[in-house]
Amino acid sequence: MTVKVGVVLAAGLGKRMNSKRHKVVHEICGKPMIAYVVDELLAAGVDRLFVVVGRLEDQVRAVLGERVRFIRQEEQLGTGHAVLQAVPHLPEDSVTVVLNGDCPLIRRQEIQRLMNVAAEREASAVMTASVDDPFAYGRVMRDEQGAVMRIVEERDASAQERLIREINGGVFAFRTPDLIGALRKLTSDNAQGELLLTDCVAHMRAVNQFVWPVLAEDPNDLAGVNDRLQLADVEARMKTRILTEHMKNGVTVIDPSSTYVHAEVAIGCDTVLCPGTSLEGRTVIGEDCVIGPNARLVDVKAGSGVTVQAALVMESRLGDDASVGPYAYIRPGSDIGAGAKIGNFVEIKNSVVGEGTKVSHLSYIGDSEIGSRVNIGCGVVTVNYDGYQKNRTVVGDDSFVGSSVNLIAPIQVGREAYIATGSTITDEVPDGAFAIARERQTTKPEYATRLRMKLKQRIR
Ligand code: UD1
Ligand code: CA
Repeated sequence: MTVKVGVVLAAGLGKRMNSKRHKVVHEICGKPMIAYVVDELLAAGVDRLFVVVGRLEDQVRAVLGERVRFIRQEEQLGTGHAVLQAVPHLPEDSVTVVLNGDCPLIRRQEIQRLMNVAAEREASAVMTASVDDPFAYGRVMRDEQGAVMRIVEERDASAQERLIREINGGVFAFRTPDLIGALRKLTSDNAQGELLLTDCVAHMRAVNQFVWPVLAEDPNDLAGVNDRLQLADVEARMKTRILTEHMKNGVTVIDPSSTYVHAEVAIGCDTVLCPGTSLEGRTVIGEDCVIGPNARLVDVKAGSGVTVQAALVMESRLGDDASVGPYAYIRPGSDIGAGAKIGNFVEIKNSVVGEGTKVSHLSYIGDSEIGSRVNIGCGVVTVNYDGYQKNRTVVGDDSFVGSSVNLIAPIQVGREAYIATGSTITDEVPDGAFAIARERQTTKPEYATRLRMKLKQRIR
């Protein structure tokens, strides 16, 4: 079988983005643009994959890692010049699949279809689309047989040529020897003064090497990102694609327009996403959960039957049937046990909360290990920071911590212990012990009336 080599172009400056970051590392639904292109090419079955990089290459290398090989284009002299840099790596008898790094909506099936056409016709092929607004894209000029004669860039096109609505999607499957021959003939005799990959088509045609157009199933798949407006446009399309996939798999999305799910998120069957939900990073949600309204989960692993309402949960785990919110904040490193309840205005940070434990209202639990079936009363605070370091709090299974208790860490409370409300606990509480640490009440009969009179006199 003919070897298939992928070449992704990502050396261009992306000037129209006006960014300190390389264009192709900007995220679409939480995933760098170029990572989509690379993933789809690999899934389409290329045997080897090269990414041409130049300025800000470290950023591109950082997001792609070891999955691909990198080729440097020292000076950005055009898309044709970029592909020329890959020539030494292209085996004579191969197909070279070229893609721009700024087209994240491209799908593996479409790349495969393109490669199949090239193979069947023993020629090259280019993905095209007929669009309403072809501005800024190369226009595709066909001959009577339907093969591409040449591609003309916006800036080089005559008024007549600009009326053509079939555009070059920037996705090619080239017969490698034909490509190499044409690349060597490129000149910078064009409006951009660059070596344009698109000019290869006319050079090939001049020696009877054909390039067949393959119309994209959905023209939107070819949308390129050159500026931030297109970035937002592609983001919206990708978001719809992701939500559609989840809905097909049995997830209810009550209001897709206000629901946001990143590319790498997994969601179980019969889970309901309520309006204002944002699932980000590598979040995994089990079955039968109700998430939202107004919930943001970032890198969260949630079991089944979990409910999260009006809450922010970061880098944490939520056990089966746990319930969070409303108005809760779970910070990184937390592990909420099955059936546990984290209620309103509770903050949990870097803590384990055991199965069935309730932290129902107005508490701060930080750097703690709370056992199972513990009741944390209203307004309990783990005092974990002494101004220099964070200290740990441990509360054993089946204990009861009354309302407004301060647990001054480092502190250890045993199992089945009972801490009286309003206590400030500084010493270890053994298993089964009762601890109370507060002033005794003083009541002065009728003193309230006298006090008021005294205070009134003062303001006269
Ligand atoms: C390009 C095509 C155009 C097509 C459109 C599809 C050319 C000349 N034009 O235009 O016909 O309709 O894509 O989206 O090919 N790059 C390099 N090195 C360079 C220049 C560019 O690696 O010297 C890379 C860029 O990083 C980018 C890709 O090539 O990923 C395309 O460059 P860009 O400037 O975005 O081309 P377009 O104007 O969009
Ligand atoms: Ca582009």
